[in-house]
Amino acid sequence: MEKEDILSSNKLATDIKEETIRPTLFKDYIGQADVKENIKVFVEAAKMREESLDHVLLYGPPGLGKTTLAYIIANELGTNIKTASGPAIEKSGDLAAILSSLEPGDVLFIDEIHRMPSYIEEILYPAMEDFTLDIIVGGEGNSRNIKINLPPFTLVGATTRAGDLTSPLRDRFGIIAKLQYYTDQELFDIIKRTSKVLEVEIEDDAARELASRSRGTPRIANRLLKRVRDFSLVMGDGVITKELTKMALEKLKVDEMGLDETDYLLLKTIAFKFNGGPVGIEALASMIGEEVSTLEDVCEPFLLQRGLLKRTPRGRMLTDLGYKHLNINNRQGTLFDLEQEDDEA
Ligand SMILES: Nc1ncnc2c1ncn2[C@@H]1O[C@H](COP(=O)(O)OP(=O)(O)O)[C@@H](O)[C@H]1O
Ligand SMILES: [Mg+2]
Repeated sequence: MEKEDILSSNKLATDIKEETIRPTLFKDYIGQADVKENIKVFVEAAKMREESLDHVLLYGPPGLGKTTLAYIIANELGTNIKTASGPAIEKSGDLAAILSSLEPGDVLFIDEIHRMPSYIEEILYPAMEDFTLDIIVGGEGNSRNIKINLPPFTLVGATTRAGDLTSPLRDRFGIIAKLQYYTDQELFDIIKRTSKVLEVEIEDDAARELASRSRGTPRIANRLLKRVRDFSLVMGDGVITKELTKMALEKLKVDEMGLDETDYLLLKTIAFKFNGGPVGIEALASMIGEEVSTLEDVCEPFLLQRGLLKRTPRGRMLTDLGYKHLNINNRQGTLFDLEQEDDEA
């Protein structure tokens, strides 16, 4: 389960607005200035040449805007987008069907492209390189290879782990873009924009507070905004104030840096059960009861980026900052009193 799912366990019907929150044009896509400017130029150039855009690989932690950007690319190109998910493409026929349904210039978006089976991946190579589909027809004894020409199309692949992509696949992308965590100012702008779409009033200092606790991630910013809005509706007068934001985030167990219960569990487990590390990710995951991939893709990147955790060849270690962050919260005796009975032992 993704961390964000945990944060949003009390979904309201209004979550349907999710799709309207997603920006559809470059101008509404906040932040990621370098990536955005470059892709904008490539899209413009492709349109001027009346050619399909080169294949694009987007990578970065969950919730930073990969899917959103894929849709914007298609929208700005003025083409259709077909979507597929790497692990869901099981049969070569599935991919062949999608590929042969593409119109000239269309975008094919494959999410979690690193999780595509290798026999599926091999179908993609000639499709990406020469716009051809090599398929085997006929059965036992009289099977033969045929080549089908595909219209020129753009593959947009998204992955949380560029490192897990095979090099033949990675090499076939002409444009490779890494999405970064957002600054507090960018998250502030996103929160303000979303609040307009949701027609909810949020005071500036409340939006700033939310921004600073959103782990640099728009999806989390939007989710927290919706939850805080719920609190303001029930406990306030509907306007989101800073005070209300703080109260709501305390109830949601999101600390001042944006760490939640899973993050605390991870940091505390390293500190108290593994003496600060180094500890292997598998041992850590089984101790916490989370998937290795959740820790690696969702929790760790942010903890590493904030310098609370470091990766060494022998495993994960808590940094001085990591200790400090735990201590501060321990001393203040705040929310995060996870069982520590045997911690002192
Ligand atoms: N640059 C951005 N500007 C505004 N909102 C964004 C931006 N990037 C992401 N979002 C919001 O965050 C949500 C999650 O983004 P998404 O594209 O689904 O992330 P990913 O595919 O990388 O996991 C989207 O629904 C969108 O509302
Ligand atoms: Mg996505």
